[in-house]
Amino acid sequence: MTIRVLHVASELYPLLKTGGLADVTAALPAALIEQGADARLLLPGFVPVAAGLADLRPVARLGRTFGAHEATLELGRLPESDLPVYMIRADDFYARPGNPYLDSEHVPWGDNAQRFALLGWAAAQLAQHADPDWAPRVVQAHDWHAGLAPAYLRAAALERGLAPAAAPARSVFTIHNLAYQGIFPAQQFGSLGLPADFFDMHGVEFYGQLSFLKAGLYYADKITTVSPTYAREIQTVAQGGGLEALLRGRAHDLVGILNGVDYAVWNPASDAAIAARYSATRMSGKLRCKTALQARMKLAQKHDAPVFGVVSRLTEQKGLDLLLAALPEIVSRGGQIVVLGTGDASLEQGYTRAARQHPDAVAVELGFDETLAHAIVAGADVMAVPSRFEPCGLTQLYALAYGALPLVHRVGGLADTVVDASLENLADGLATGFVFERFEPDALAAAIRRAFALHARSRDWRETRRRGMEQDFGWAASAQRYMALYRELA
Ligand code: ADP
Ligand code: GLC
Repeated sequence: MTIRVLHVASELYPLLKTGGLADVTAALPAALIEQGADARLLLPGFVPVAAGLADLRPVARLGRTFGAHEATLELGRLPESDLPVYMIRADDFYARPGNPYLDSEHVPWGDNAQRFALLGWAAAQLAQHADPDWAPRVVQAHDWHAGLAPAYLRAAALERGLAPAAAPARSVFTIHNLAYQGIFPAQQFGSLGLPADFFDMHGVEFYGQLSFLKAGLYYADKITTVSPTYAREIQTVAQGGGLEALLRGRAHDLVGILNGVDYAVWNPASDAAIAARYSATRMSGKLRCKTALQARMKLAQKHDAPVFGVVSRLTEQKGLDLLLAALPEIVSRGGQIVVLGTGDASLEQGYTRAARQHPDAVAVELGFDETLAHAIVAGADVMAVPSRFEPCGLTQLYALAYGALPLVHRVGGLADTVVDASLENLADGLATGFVFERFEPDALAAAIRRAFALHARSRDWRETRRRGMEQDFGWAASAQRYMALYRELA
Protein backbone atom coordinates (compact mmCIF):
# COMPACT_ATOMS: atom_id res chain seq x y z
CA MET A 1 0.00 0.00 0.00
CA THR A 2 1.27 3.46 -0.84
CA ILE A 3 1.95 5.52 2.26
CA ARG A 4 0.44 8.99 2.21
CA VAL A 5 2.63 11.33 4.21
CA LEU A 6 2.20 15.04 4.85
CA HIS A 7 5.28 17.10 5.70
CA VAL A 8 4.48 20.20 7.73
CA ALA A 9 7.04 23.00 7.81
CA SER A 10 7.53 26.71 7.46
CA GLU A 11 10.27 26.89 4.80
CA LEU A 12 10.78 25.48 1.32
CA TYR A 13 13.70 25.96 -1.04
CA PRO A 14 13.75 27.76 -3.46
CA LEU A 15 10.75 29.83 -2.35
CA LEU A 16 11.59 30.65 1.26
CA LYS A 17 14.80 29.76 3.07
CA THR A 18 16.56 30.96 6.19
CA GLY A 19 18.60 27.79 6.71
CA GLY A 20 18.99 24.09 6.02
CA LEU A 21 15.38 23.28 6.92
CA ALA A 22 14.28 24.66 3.54
CA ASP A 23 16.74 22.42 1.70
CA VAL A 24 15.39 19.41 3.56
CA THR A 25 11.70 20.15 3.02
CA ALA A 26 12.36 20.54 -0.70
CA ALA A 27 14.41 17.39 -1.14
CA LEU A 28 13.00 14.88 1.33
CA PRO A 29 9.41 14.63 0.02
CA ALA A 30 10.75 14.20 -3.50
CA ALA A 31 13.11 11.46 -2.31
CA LEU A 32 10.19 9.77 -0.53
CA ILE A 33 8.13 9.85 -3.72
CA GLU A 34 11.01 8.07 -5.44
CA GLN A 35 10.77 5.40 -2.75
CA GLY A 36 7.09 4.94 -3.56
CA ALA A 37 5.47 7.25 -0.99
CA ASP A 38 2.63 9.61 -1.78
CA ALA A 39 4.18 12.69 -0.16
CA ARG A 40 2.85 16.21 0.09
CA LEU A 41 3.82 19.34 1.96
CA LEU A 42 1.90 21.91 4.03
CA LEU A 43 3.23 25.45 4.51
CA PRO A 44 1.96 28.81 5.75
CA GLY A 45 1.16 31.11 2.84
CA PHE A 46 4.09 33.50 3.34
CA VAL A 47 4.45 36.03 0.52
CA PRO A 48 7.14 34.22 -1.51
CA VAL A 49 5.33 30.89 -1.06
CA ALA A 50 2.00 32.27 -2.28
CA ALA A 51 3.78 33.94 -5.18
CA GLY A 52 5.95 30.97 -6.08
CA LEU A 53 3.59 28.01 -6.09
CA ALA A 54 1.96 27.11 -9.39
CA ASP A 55 -1.67 26.18 -10.09
CA LEU A 56 -2.96 27.16 -6.64
CA ARG A 57 -6.63 26.38 -6.10
CA PRO A 58 -8.73 26.43 -2.93
CA VAL A 59 -9.61 23.04 -1.45
CA ALA A 60 -11.20 23.99 1.87
CA ARG A 61 -12.19 26.86 4.04
CA LEU A 62 -10.60 26.46 7.46
CA GLY A 63 -13.18 26.72 10.24
CA ARG A 64 -10.85 28.00 12.92
CA THR A 65 -8.59 30.96 12.20
CA PHE A 66 -6.90 31.72 15.56
CA GLY A 67 -7.73 35.38 15.12
CA ALA A 68 -6.89 35.83 11.46
CA HIS A 69 -9.70 37.31 9.43
CA GLU A 70 -10.00 34.35 7.15
CA ALA A 71 -8.07 31.18 6.46
CA THR A 72 -8.32 28.86 3.49
CA LEU A 73 -6.43 25.81 2.44
CA GLU A 74 -5.12 25.83 -1.10
CA LEU A 75 -3.34 23.17 -3.15
CA GLY A 76 -0.66 23.94 -5.69
CA ARG A 77 2.66 22.55 -6.75
CA LEU A 78 6.31 23.47 -6.68
CA PRO A 79 7.02 24.41 -10.32
CA GLU A 80 10.45 22.79 -10.58
CA SER A 81 9.56 19.47 -9.01
CA ASP A 82 5.79 18.96 -9.37
CA LEU A 83 5.66 18.32 -5.62
CA PRO A 84 2.07 18.87 -4.39
CA VAL A 85 2.06 21.62 -1.78
CA TYR A 86 -0.81 22.72 0.44
CA MET A 87 -0.68 26.31 1.54
CA ILE A 88 -2.66 28.10 4.22
CA ARG A 89 -3.84 31.42 2.90
CA ALA A 90 -4.39 33.68 5.91
CA ASP A 91 -3.12 37.06 4.82
CA ASP A 92 -3.53 38.66 8.26
CA PHE A 93 -0.96 36.15 9.51
CA TYR A 94 1.39 35.46 6.66
CA ALA A 95 1.29 38.30 4.11
CA ARG A 96 3.93 40.31 5.94
CA PRO A 97 7.18 41.55 4.46
CA GLY A 98 10.55 40.12 5.42
CA ASN A 99 11.49 37.28 7.72
CA PRO A 100 8.77 34.69 8.41
CA TYR A 101 9.39 34.69 12.17
CA LEU A 102 10.63 38.19 13.02
CA ASP A 103 9.47 41.74 12.41
CA SER A 104 11.66 44.47 10.94
CA GLU A 105 13.23 45.04 14.39
CA HIS A 106 14.23 41.34 14.48
CA VAL A 107 11.72 40.72 17.25
CA PRO A 108 9.41 37.66 16.99
CA TRP A 109 5.96 38.66 15.71
CA GLY A 110 3.64 39.10 18.70
CA ASP A 111 1.10 36.61 17.33
CA ASN A 112 3.55 33.82 16.45
CA ALA A 113 1.75 31.38 18.75
CA GLN A 114 -1.45 31.83 16.75
CA ARG A 115 0.28 32.00 13.36
CA PHE A 116 1.97 28.66 13.90
CA ALA A 117 -0.89 27.07 15.81
CA LEU A 118 -2.89 27.52 12.60
CA LEU A 119 -0.19 25.55 10.76
CA GLY A 120 -0.34 22.60 13.17
CA TRP A 121 -4.11 22.69 13.35
CA ALA A 122 -4.48 22.75 9.54
CA ALA A 123 -2.26 19.64 9.36
CA ALA A 124 -4.62 17.84 11.73
CA GLN A 125 -7.57 19.03 9.60
CA LEU A 126 -5.97 17.54 6.50
CA ALA A 127 -5.68 14.25 8.38
CA GLN A 128 -9.42 14.54 8.98
CA HIS A 129 -10.21 14.92 5.29
CA ALA A 130 -10.30 18.70 4.96
CA ASP A 131 -9.33 17.86 1.37
CA PRO A 132 -11.86 15.19 0.35
CA ASP A 133 -9.44 13.92 -2.33
CA TRP A 134 -6.39 13.25 -0.18
CA ALA A 135 -5.63 12.65 3.49
CA PRO A 136 -2.32 11.64 5.06
CA ARG A 137 -1.77 8.44 7.03
CA VAL A 138 1.37 9.95 8.55
CA VAL A 139 1.98 13.58 9.43
CA GLN A 140 5.65 14.56 9.78
CA ALA A 141 6.04 17.89 11.57
CA HIS A 142 9.33 19.78 11.29
CA ASP A 143 10.69 21.95 14.12
CA TRP A 144 8.68 24.00 16.62
CA HIS A 145 6.71 25.81 13.91
CA ALA A 146 4.80 22.59 13.25
CA GLY A 147 5.05 21.30 16.82
CA LEU A 148 1.35 21.54 17.59
CA ALA A 149 0.34 19.20 14.73
CA PRO A 150 0.83 16.05 16.87
CA ALA A 151 -1.04 17.74 19.75
CA TYR A 152 -4.06 18.54 17.57
CA LEU A 153 -4.02 14.98 16.21
CA ARG A 154 -4.04 13.61 19.75
CA ALA A 155 -6.85 16.00 20.69
CA ALA A 156 -8.88 14.81 17.69
CA ALA A 157 -8.45 11.19 18.79
CA LEU A 158 -9.49 11.97 22.36
CA GLU A 159 -12.52 13.90 21.17
CA ARG A 160 -13.72 10.79 19.38
CA GLY A 161 -12.86 8.54 22.29
CA LEU A 162 -10.10 6.82 20.33
CA ALA A 163 -6.79 5.49 21.61
CA PRO A 164 -3.74 7.58 20.58
CA ALA A 165 -2.76 4.91 18.06
CA ALA A 166 -6.15 5.34 16.36
CA ALA A 167 -5.69 9.08 15.77
CA PRO A 168 -6.69 10.37 12.32
CA ALA A 169 -3.04 10.07 11.33
CA ARG A 170 0.12 8.83 13.02
CA SER A 171 2.72 11.50 13.67
CA VAL A 172 6.45 12.02 13.45
CA PHE A 173 8.15 15.07 14.90
CA THR A 174 11.52 15.99 13.42
CA ILE A 175 14.01 18.06 15.39
CA HIS A 176 16.18 20.17 13.13
CA ASN A 177 17.34 22.31 15.99
CA LEU A 178 16.55 21.91 19.69
CA ALA A 179 17.73 25.45 20.39
CA TYR A 180 14.58 26.97 18.92
CA GLN A 181 11.80 25.88 21.25
CA GLY A 182 8.78 27.97 20.30
CA ILE A 183 8.16 29.26 23.81
CA PHE A 184 5.24 31.55 24.63
CA PRO A 185 3.61 32.89 27.79
CA ALA A 186 1.16 30.50 29.44
CA GLN A 187 -1.70 32.97 28.81
CA GLN A 188 -1.49 32.18 25.09
CA PHE A 189 -2.55 28.59 25.70
CA GLY A 190 -6.23 29.54 25.94
CA SER A 191 -6.26 30.78 22.35
CA LEU A 192 -5.07 27.47 20.92
CA GLY A 193 -8.24 25.43 21.32
CA LEU A 194 -6.45 22.45 22.88
CA PRO A 195 -7.97 20.44 25.76
CA ALA A 196 -7.27 22.24 29.04
CA ASP A 197 -5.37 19.29 30.51
CA PHE A 198 -2.78 19.50 27.71
CA PHE A 199 -1.26 22.40 29.64
CA ASP A 200 0.64 20.09 31.90
CA MET A 201 4.15 18.90 32.54
CA HIS A 202 2.93 15.84 30.64
CA GLY A 203 1.93 17.98 27.67
CA VAL A 204 2.79 21.38 26.23
CA GLU A 205 3.82 23.09 29.47
CA PHE A 206 7.52 23.82 29.92
CA TYR A 207 8.67 25.48 33.15
CA GLY A 208 5.43 27.42 33.46
CA GLN A 209 5.35 28.46 29.83
CA LEU A 210 4.00 27.01 26.62
CA SER A 211 6.43 25.23 24.27
CA PHE A 212 5.53 24.21 20.73
CA LEU A 213 8.71 22.14 20.54
CA LYS A 214 7.78 20.22 23.64
CA ALA A 215 4.28 19.65 22.24
CA GLY A 216 5.85 17.95 19.22
CA LEU A 217 8.20 15.87 21.35
CA TYR A 218 5.49 14.84 23.78
CA TYR A 219 2.59 14.04 21.47
CA ALA A 220 4.29 12.66 18.34
CA ASP A 221 4.27 8.88 17.90
CA LYS A 222 7.90 8.97 16.77
CA ILE A 223 10.66 11.52 17.06
CA THR A 224 13.45 11.88 14.57
CA THR A 225 16.40 14.17 14.40
CA VAL A 226 18.82 14.82 11.61
CA SER A 227 21.90 12.83 12.61
CA PRO A 228 22.66 9.82 14.82
CA THR A 229 25.18 11.70 16.97
CA TYR A 230 22.78 14.59 17.64
CA ALA A 231 20.13 12.02 18.63
CA ARG A 232 22.50 10.91 21.40
CA GLU A 233 23.72 14.40 22.35
CA ILE A 234 20.23 15.79 22.98
CA GLN A 235 19.66 13.16 25.64
CA THR A 236 22.37 14.77 27.77
CA VAL A 237 22.05 17.73 30.14
CA ALA A 238 24.72 19.61 28.21
CA GLN A 239 22.79 19.56 24.94
CA GLY A 240 19.23 18.69 25.85
CA GLY A 241 18.02 22.25 26.30
CA GLY A 242 16.01 21.21 29.36
CA LEU A 243 14.24 18.50 27.35
CA GLU A 244 16.80 15.76 27.93
CA ALA A 245 14.68 13.88 30.45
CA LEU A 246 11.71 13.80 28.10
CA LEU A 247 13.97 12.69 25.25
CA ARG A 248 15.61 10.00 27.37
CA GLY A 249 12.18 8.79 28.40
CA ARG A 250 11.25 8.47 24.75
CA ALA A 251 14.58 7.02 23.61
CA HIS A 252 12.91 3.97 22.07
CA ASP A 253 10.83 6.27 19.84
CA LEU A 254 13.75 8.54 18.93
CA VAL A 255 15.99 7.96 15.93
CA GLY A 256 18.66 10.00 14.14
CA ILE A 257 18.41 9.94 10.35
CA LEU A 258 21.08 11.89 8.53
CA ASN A 259 20.05 14.59 6.06
CA GLY A 260 21.08 14.19 2.45
CA VAL A 261 22.28 16.35 -0.39
CA ASP A 262 20.08 17.21 -3.34
CA TYR A 263 22.67 16.62 -6.06
CA ALA A 264 20.36 18.23 -8.60
CA VAL A 265 21.04 21.53 -6.81
CA TRP A 266 24.53 20.92 -5.40
CA ASN A 267 26.70 19.33 -8.08
CA PRO A 268 29.80 21.03 -9.48
CA ALA A 269 29.47 19.12 -12.75
CA SER A 270 26.16 20.79 -13.58
CA ASP A 271 26.00 23.92 -11.39
CA ALA A 272 25.05 26.94 -13.50
CA ALA A 273 25.82 29.34 -10.61
CA ILE A 274 29.59 28.73 -10.64
CA ALA A 275 32.34 30.03 -12.94
CA ALA A 276 33.26 26.64 -14.44
CA ARG A 277 31.98 23.10 -14.15
CA TYR A 278 34.20 20.33 -12.76
CA SER A 279 34.10 16.84 -11.28
CA ALA A 280 36.35 14.44 -9.37
CA THR A 281 37.90 13.26 -12.63
CA ARG A 282 38.06 16.68 -14.35
CA MET A 283 39.21 19.15 -11.74
CA SER A 284 40.56 22.06 -13.82
CA GLY A 285 37.32 24.02 -13.46
CA LYS A 286 37.83 24.24 -9.70
CA LEU A 287 40.84 26.52 -10.10
CA ARG A 288 38.78 28.78 -12.38
CA CYS A 289 36.13 28.92 -9.68
CA LYS A 290 38.78 29.86 -7.13
CA THR A 291 40.22 32.59 -9.34
CA ALA A 292 36.74 33.94 -10.03
CA LEU A 293 35.97 33.97 -6.31
CA GLN A 294 39.19 35.80 -5.46
CA ALA A 295 38.38 38.36 -8.16
CA ARG A 296 34.79 38.85 -7.07
CA MET A 297 35.78 39.25 -3.41
CA LYS A 298 38.78 41.47 -4.33
CA LEU A 299 41.31 39.15 -2.72
CA ALA A 300 44.90 38.82 -3.92
CA GLN A 301 44.97 36.58 -7.01
CA LYS A 302 47.16 33.85 -5.58
CA HIS A 303 46.68 30.30 -6.87
CA ASP A 304 48.63 28.69 -4.09
CA ALA A 305 46.98 30.49 -1.17
CA PRO A 306 44.50 28.11 0.43
CA VAL A 307 41.10 29.79 0.49
CA PHE A 308 38.90 29.08 3.52
CA GLY A 309 35.18 29.61 2.98
CA VAL A 310 32.30 30.23 5.38
CA VAL A 311 28.62 30.27 4.39
CA SER A 312 26.56 30.50 7.51
CA ARG A 313 23.98 32.05 9.72
CA LEU A 314 26.03 34.23 12.06
CA THR A 315 24.69 32.92 15.35
CA GLU A 316 26.12 31.58 18.58
CA GLN A 317 25.51 28.03 17.31
CA LYS A 318 27.96 28.28 14.44
CA GLY A 319 31.16 28.86 16.43
CA LEU A 320 32.28 31.73 14.24
CA ASP A 321 33.52 33.68 17.25
CA LEU A 322 36.12 30.94 17.70
CA LEU A 323 37.04 31.18 14.02
CA LEU A 324 37.29 34.97 14.19
CA ALA A 325 39.84 34.62 16.97
CA ALA A 326 41.77 32.13 14.83
CA LEU A 327 41.93 34.35 11.73
CA PRO A 328 45.59 35.31 12.38
CA GLU A 329 46.42 31.60 12.14
CA ILE A 330 45.07 31.61 8.57
CA VAL A 331 46.31 35.02 7.45
CA SER A 332 49.84 34.73 8.85
CA ARG A 333 50.35 31.46 6.99
CA GLY A 334 49.40 33.07 3.70
CA GLY A 335 45.83 31.79 3.56
CA GLN A 336 42.69 33.66 2.64
CA ILE A 337 39.15 33.57 3.96
CA VAL A 338 35.79 34.45 2.43
CA VAL A 339 32.75 34.81 4.69
CA LEU A 340 29.13 35.01 3.57
CA GLY A 341 26.61 35.36 6.33
CA THR A 342 24.14 37.42 8.24
CA GLY A 343 23.08 37.54 11.86
CA ASP A 344 24.61 38.74 15.13
CA ALA A 345 25.82 42.32 14.90
CA SER A 346 28.99 41.58 16.87
CA LEU A 347 30.07 38.86 14.44
CA GLU A 348 29.15 40.98 11.42
CA GLN A 349 31.29 43.78 12.84
CA GLY A 350 34.15 41.49 13.83
CA TYR A 351 34.52 39.99 10.38
CA THR A 352 34.03 43.35 8.66
CA ARG A 353 36.81 44.79 10.79
CA ALA A 354 39.12 41.87 9.93
CA ALA A 355 38.42 42.42 6.23
CA ARG A 356 39.34 46.08 6.59
CA GLN A 357 42.61 45.12 8.30
CA HIS A 358 43.55 42.46 5.72
CA PRO A 359 41.83 43.42 2.46
CA ASP A 360 44.02 41.04 0.42
CA ALA A 361 43.29 38.03 2.61
CA VAL A 362 39.90 38.47 4.27
CA ALA A 363 36.65 39.20 2.44
CA VAL A 364 33.17 39.45 3.91
CA GLU A 365 29.75 39.74 2.39
CA LEU A 366 26.88 40.34 4.78
CA GLY A 367 23.55 39.03 3.53
CA PHE A 368 21.83 35.97 2.18
CA ASP A 369 22.88 35.12 -1.36
CA GLU A 370 22.24 31.66 -2.79
CA THR A 371 24.38 32.20 -5.91
CA LEU A 372 27.36 33.49 -3.95
CA ALA A 373 26.99 30.53 -1.57
CA HIS A 374 27.56 28.18 -4.52
CA ALA A 375 30.47 30.29 -5.78
CA ILE A 376 32.17 30.13 -2.38
CA VAL A 377 31.81 26.37 -1.94
CA ALA A 378 33.12 25.89 -5.48
CA GLY A 379 36.01 28.35 -5.13
CA ALA A 380 37.16 27.43 -1.62
CA ASP A 381 39.84 24.89 -0.77
CA VAL A 382 38.47 24.46 2.76
CA MET A 383 34.98 25.13 4.13
CA ALA A 384 34.96 25.93 7.84
CA VAL A 385 32.02 24.76 9.98
CA PRO A 386 33.33 25.10 13.56
CA SER A 387 29.86 24.90 15.17
CA ARG A 388 29.37 24.64 18.94
CA PHE A 389 26.56 22.22 18.14
CA GLU A 390 25.21 21.10 14.78
CA PRO A 391 22.15 18.87 14.44
CA CYS A 392 23.23 17.80 10.97
CA GLY A 393 24.79 20.58 8.93
CA LEU A 394 24.49 20.67 5.17
CA THR A 395 27.36 23.02 4.36
CA GLN A 396 30.02 20.38 5.08
CA LEU A 397 28.18 17.94 2.80
CA TYR A 398 28.04 20.50 0.00
CA ALA A 399 31.74 21.18 0.62
CA LEU A 400 32.61 17.50 0.20
CA ALA A 401 30.75 17.38 -3.11
CA TYR A 402 32.59 20.47 -4.36
CA GLY A 403 36.08 19.37 -3.37
CA ALA A 404 36.40 21.92 -0.57
CA LEU A 405 37.75 20.02 2.45
CA PRO A 406 35.45 20.56 5.43
CA LEU A 407 37.04 21.78 8.66
CA VAL A 408 34.60 20.96 11.45
CA HIS A 409 34.10 20.58 15.19
CA ARG A 410 33.44 16.95 16.14
CA VAL A 411 29.83 17.38 17.11
CA GLY A 412 26.38 16.33 15.85
CA GLY A 413 26.10 15.65 12.16
CA LEU A 414 29.58 17.07 11.56
CA ALA A 415 31.03 14.16 13.55
CA ASP A 416 28.98 11.72 11.47
CA THR A 417 30.09 13.00 8.07
CA VAL A 418 33.71 14.17 8.12
CA VAL A 419 36.85 12.07 8.82
CA ASP A 420 39.95 13.88 10.04
CA ALA A 421 43.12 13.92 7.98
CA SER A 422 45.22 12.39 10.75
CA LEU A 423 48.23 10.37 9.66
CA GLU A 424 46.46 7.10 10.36
CA ASN A 425 43.29 8.12 8.51
CA LEU A 426 45.38 9.28 5.56
CA ALA A 427 47.28 6.00 5.58
CA ASP A 428 44.05 3.99 5.70
CA GLY A 429 42.45 6.00 2.93
CA LEU A 430 39.68 7.38 5.14
CA ALA A 431 40.38 11.11 5.51
CA THR A 432 37.95 13.63 4.02
CA GLY A 433 38.61 16.82 6.01
CA PHE A 434 39.76 18.29 9.30
CA VAL A 435 38.06 17.61 12.60
CA PHE A 436 38.80 19.19 15.97
CA GLU A 437 37.68 17.65 19.21
CA ARG A 438 37.47 20.35 21.89
CA PHE A 439 35.70 23.64 21.25
CA GLU A 440 38.80 25.62 22.20
CA PRO A 441 40.99 28.09 20.30
CA ASP A 442 44.05 25.83 20.38
CA ALA A 443 42.12 22.85 19.03
CA LEU A 444 40.75 24.89 16.13
CA ALA A 445 44.19 26.37 15.49
CA ALA A 446 45.69 22.88 15.32
CA ALA A 447 43.07 21.85 12.75
CA ILE A 448 43.89 24.93 10.69
CA ARG A 449 47.58 24.02 10.87
CA ARG A 450 46.69 20.49 9.76
CA ALA A 451 44.93 21.99 6.75
CA PHE A 452 48.02 23.99 5.82
CA ALA A 453 50.26 20.97 6.33
CA LEU A 454 48.13 18.81 4.05
CA HIS A 455 47.86 21.60 1.49
CA ALA A 456 51.64 21.60 1.26
CA ARG A 457 51.54 17.90 0.31
CA SER A 458 49.66 18.29 -2.91
CA ARG A 459 49.34 14.60 -3.71
CA ASP A 460 47.72 13.83 -0.36
CA TRP A 461 45.56 16.91 -0.73
CA ARG A 462 44.28 15.84 -4.14
CA GLU A 463 43.61 12.33 -2.94
CA THR A 464 41.70 13.52 0.13
CA ARG A 465 39.70 15.91 -2.00
CA ARG A 466 38.83 13.20 -4.51
CA ARG A 467 37.74 10.86 -1.70
CA GLY A 468 35.46 13.57 -0.34
CA MET A 469 33.93 14.21 -3.75
CA GLU A 470 33.20 10.52 -4.17
CA GLN A 471 31.24 10.21 -0.92
CA ASP A 472 27.56 9.59 -1.54
CA PHE A 473 25.35 11.62 0.78
CA GLY A 474 22.33 11.44 -1.51
CA TRP A 475 18.85 11.27 -0.03
CA ALA A 476 17.99 7.70 -1.08
CA ALA A 477 19.39 5.91 1.98
CA SER A 478 17.77 8.35 4.42
CA ALA A 479 14.45 8.28 2.56
CA GLN A 480 14.47 4.50 2.96
CA ARG A 481 14.89 4.91 6.71
CA TYR A 482 11.93 7.28 6.91
CA MET A 483 9.89 4.81 4.83
CA ALA A 484 10.67 2.03 7.31
CA LEU A 485 9.56 4.31 10.14
CA TYR A 486 6.28 5.16 8.38
CA ARG A 487 5.60 1.49 7.75
CA GLU A 488 6.14 0.75 11.41
CA LEU A 489 3.58 3.46 12.26
CA ALA A 490 0.98 2.85 9.57
P1 ADP B 1 21.47 25.79 9.44
O1 ADP B 1 20.22 25.17 8.95
O2 ADP B 1 21.70 25.58 10.89
O3 ADP B 1 21.60 27.21 9.06
P2 ADP B 1 22.78 24.00 7.52
O4 ADP B 1 24.22 23.76 7.27
O5 ADP B 1 21.93 22.82 7.69
O6 ADP B 1 22.70 25.00 8.76
O7 ADP B 1 22.14 24.76 6.30
C1 ADP B 1 22.46 26.05 5.95
C2 ADP B 1 21.90 26.31 4.58
O8 ADP B 1 21.70 27.71 4.43
C3 ADP B 1 22.81 25.89 3.46
O9 ADP B 1 22.06 25.60 2.30
C4 ADP B 1 23.65 27.15 3.25
O10 ADP B 1 24.20 27.21 1.97
C5 ADP B 1 22.59 28.21 3.44
N1 ADP B 1 23.07 29.51 3.90
C6 ADP B 1 23.40 29.88 5.15
N2 ADP B 1 23.74 31.16 5.21
C7 ADP B 1 23.62 31.63 3.95
C8 ADP B 1 23.83 32.91 3.34
N3 ADP B 1 24.23 33.96 4.06
N4 ADP B 1 23.61 33.02 2.02
C9 ADP B 1 23.21 31.96 1.30
N5 ADP B 1 23.00 30.74 1.80
C10 ADP B 1 23.20 30.58 3.11
C1 GLC C 1 18.93 23.08 11.39
C2 GLC C 1 20.29 22.69 11.91
C3 GLC C 1 21.20 22.09 10.86
C4 GLC C 1 20.46 21.13 9.97
C5 GLC C 1 19.25 21.81 9.37
C6 GLC C 1 18.45 20.89 8.46
O1 GLC C 1 18.84 24.38 10.97
O2 GLC C 1 20.93 23.77 12.56
O3 GLC C 1 22.27 21.42 11.50
O4 GLC C 1 21.31 20.68 8.93
O5 GLC C 1 18.39 22.22 10.40
O6 GLC C 1 18.05 19.72 9.12
